[in-house]
Amino acid sequence: MSQVAEAPTRSGVESYEGLRLRSLTKQFAAFTAVKSLDLDVPTGSFFALLGPSGCGKTTTLRMVAGLETPTSGTITLSGKDITWEKPYRRPVNTVFQNYALFPHLDIYENVAFGLRRRKSKEVDKAVREMLDLVELDTQARKKPAQLSGGQQQRVALARALINSPEVLLLDEPLGALDLKLRRAMQIEIKRIQTEVGLTFVHVTHDQEEAMTMADTIAVMNAGVIEQMGAPAELYDNPQTTFVANFLGQSNLIEGTVRGREGDVVKVDMQGTIASIPTERAHVSGTDGELGWVGIRPEKVLIAEVGESLDAPGSSIPGGVVSDVSFVGVSTQYLVRMPWGQEIQVFEQNTGRRRLFRQGESVDISWRPEYSFLLDHNQDATAGVDKEDAAS
Ligand SMILES: Nc1ncnc2c1ncn2[C@@H]1O[C@H](COP(=O)(O)OP(=O)(O)OP(=O)(O)O)[C@@H](O)[C@H]1O
Ligand SMILES: [Mg+2]
Repeated sequence: MSQVAEAPTRSGVESYEGLRLRSLTKQFAAFTAVKSLDLDVPTGSFFALLGPSGCGKTTTLRMVAGLETPTSGTITLSGKDITWEKPYRRPVNTVFQNYALFPHLDIYENVAFGLRRRKSKEVDKAVREMLDLVELDTQARKKPAQLSGGQQQRVALARALINSPEVLLLDEPLGALDLKLRRAMQIEIKRIQTEVGLTFVHVTHDQEEAMTMADTIAVMNAGVIEQMGAPAELYDNPQTTFVANFLGQSNLIEGTVRGREGDVVKVDMQGTIASIPTERAHVSGTDGELGWVGIRPEKVLIAEVGESLDAPGSSIPGGVVSDVSFVGVSTQYLVRMPWGQEIQVFEQNTGRRRLFRQGESVDISWRPEYSFLLDHNQDATAGVDKEDAAS
């Protein structure tokens, strides 16, 4: 089973049980695709590298796999420096979007390939186990072309996992599948990862996919990691406008810092004083500084004018409903505020409250502990899904 790289015991060298990237940089001529990346991927974790097209995800994976040479920086795995190791000598396997199965070999032989090449004994037992794991034991004698996309993807997974890599790299493995199958495969891959307990590094530009599958997400933008953490942590407390907009949606309202009081930063937000918990205020916090007050659409409450709501923060008057989309589980409102901005409000359709109509006057409010404060120098539209914004 074991194909574990020898763990070096060089004294004085910081040892990390996992995949570690330090100052990893890749330049293509004058263009820097990956900029001095630092990343720690703990052993056994399901790690997602999430970012828009062209941000450098594939380039990063290819450097880890040894298919691309870094311009500078280091890659270590279990304390061993593999930056210049030949690809086939790295305990790393990659699953690509296009599966890259051997069309002339049947499923069994596709999965067996790595073991046969290494002249391994007990091929049959290992292949049977793998086919079992990916639930394709009844398909062993079919050719890849006779399988569905989701099944082919599972063959690709089995073919990589049978080599017992320390790290499995997945580059948009579900990109070719339709939405429903994708959702099913996300759960399936997560189950397999939990079962085998190996480190998975999963590259995707789909934020829902990353949140569903990963323990830790690194949000990548233009060659750098903007923020890293557990999905809920990133969603609840984004530190940049890019993360606030790329991972879900956010309302960002301009405000001016008006000092600190205990654990909160006070911000004058278009005439209403908002309180932001200091651990969620990602600004320097000096008096008079501009910032973006952020609040997620589902955290915003919409109310009749003057109605008191379960939100201890002050409500903001003067809103007018400018758009209503009923989407079944929820209703999504746009509320035009007195300062001209449209605020997004998502309300669960519990049946407890009536729907508001376009043109109605409303108040909005939210619990201050849900809001966050971002640097005003950042673009408030960074990371916004252009299709969403246009619709
Ligand atoms: N061999 C190359 N030569 C020149 N530029 C390259 C090369 N490979 C990648 N790039 C550039 O580097 C940037 C990052 O590419 P990369 O493939 O890593 O992006 P990505 O995040 O994987 O995007 P996607 O989500 O579209 O797959 C892109 O601007 C790309 O054009
Ligand atoms: Mg890519």
